[in-house]
Parts: sequence; C-alpha cells; structure tokens
Amino acid sequence: SPERPGPPSCWASRYPQAVNCSWGLSPDPLLDTDFVVTYRSVRVPKCTATGPRSCSFGDLQVFSLTPYELNVTARNALGAASGTLPFLLENIIKPDPPESLRVSPIPGEPQKLLLEWSPPSSWPFPEYFPLQYRVRYSQDNDSVGPYEVTSHILTDLEPGSLHHVQVAAKDATDSGEFSAWSPATPAMGNKWA
Ligand SMILES: *[C@@H]1O[C@H](CO)[C@@H](O)[C@H](O)[C@H]1NC(C)=O
Ligand SMILES: *[C@@H]1O[C@H](CO)[C@@H](O)[C@H](O)[C@H]1NC(C)=O
Ligand SMILES: *[C@@H]1O[C@H](CO)[C@@H](O)[C@H](O)[C@H]1NC(C)=O
Repeated sequence: SPERPGPPSCWASRYPQAVNCSWGLSPDPLLDTDFVVTYRSVRVPKCTATGPRSCSFGDLQVFSLTPYELNVTARNALGAASGTLPFLLENIIKPDPPESLRVSPIPGEPQKLLLEWSPPSSWPFPEYFPLQYRVRYSQDNDSVGPYEVTSHILTDLEPGSLHHVQVAAKDATDSGEFSAWSPATPAMGNKWA
C-alpha cells in the first residue's frame, strides 16, 4: 500500500468562516496517487480541494464539543492508506500575521516611537472576534504584550539605535496559537535627540 499520508494539519486563519488543511507524503510516491478526504463533524459537508494536497471547508460549528476529524486517504495502484486528525475548532485557530506595521516619530518625544498596525485582512470579523497582539523589537527576542489594541509606543530608545519591529496576533480569548511574526520593520531611535 502507499505511504500513509500525514499527519494532516489544519488551521483556522479565517475563524469562524473556514478551515484550511494540508498534508504530505514522505517519501513522495513515484506512482500517480490521488487523495480522498472526508471529515466527520456535527454537520458533514465536504473539504474542497485548494491544491493537490490541501483543502478547505466552511459552514463551521463554533464552540462545538464534538471534535472534527479529518481523514486523508492516499490511493494508488498499490492500494490505499489513511491518516486522520481529530481537532476541536477553537484549538486550531491561528491568525495570519498582522499587516501594515507603521513606525512614526512622536513630536517632542525623541526617545519614543509610535507603532501602528492592522489586523490580518484574512481575519473576517475583528469586531466580533477581537485579536490580542505581541510586539517584538529587541535583538534578544523578548516580546511584550499581549495588548488588545493595534498600536504601541516604544520607549527609552537610544538615539540612533536600530530595532527591527514585529507583531504577532492571537485570538483574544486565548484559543489556538499565535500567528507567525509579521515581517521585520526597521525602527530607528531619533538621532537628533
Ligand atoms: C485556504 O482556503 C481558501 C479557500 O477557502 C483558499 O483560497 C486559500 O488559498 C487556502 N490557503 C492556503 C494557504 O492553502
Ligand atoms: C478514513 O477513510 C477511509 C476511506 O474512506 C476508510 O477506509 C478509513 O477507515 C477511514 N479512517 C477513519 C479513522 O475513519
Ligand atoms: C532569536 O530568534 C532567532 C530565530 O527565531 C534565533 O536564530 C536567534 O538565535 C535568537 N536570538 C537570541 C539572542 O535568542
């Protein structure tokens, strides 16, 4: 039989609208292999292919205590093999990184900089499902937060010091995990302090 696919991974960067799942096969089979994906839940819709080894489904049941169970079956001339992933929807929430991180000076406050960012545009309802954020700006990977606002003031900056600022987002109720860090944005302490 072919290699067992998996383990599949599923994440909800567009909670509560949709879940994306993907899986791999290792080693990559030489034979043509197709995949049949099913999942069990309270409702039973299908996972629509978004690529050869990925799919997405919507019509989600939020706060359900019945786990979803994704079942990926690889089939080729040698046979079939399955991999499964049970999960609770709220446990797989993982927003995309925040966007449009901007750094601006604060008039009369040479040791401070204002950071502002936007929630990930893929997060459908920031008003109803707020996000919390962490900010990272020192070389030593320390981060500050969480904050439930989309701005933060860096203080005590050495004049001329260069920082690389990043922001990450997580569902405000603390479900699931933090997004990846946003791309590093340079922030320079005011040289003319
Ligand atoms: C997630 O699913 C949507 C369709 O619902 C698709 O457009 C998007 O490309 C998928 N994202 C990834 C990273 O596969
Ligand atoms: C997964 O789906 C395959 C094909 O439909 C089936 O044979 C297998 O029993 C399923 N596995 C689980 C754990 O449901
Ligand atoms: C900071 O994180 C990066 C990657 O996450 C790592 O390579 C680096 O060693 C870390 N630096 C410190 C000082 O911990």
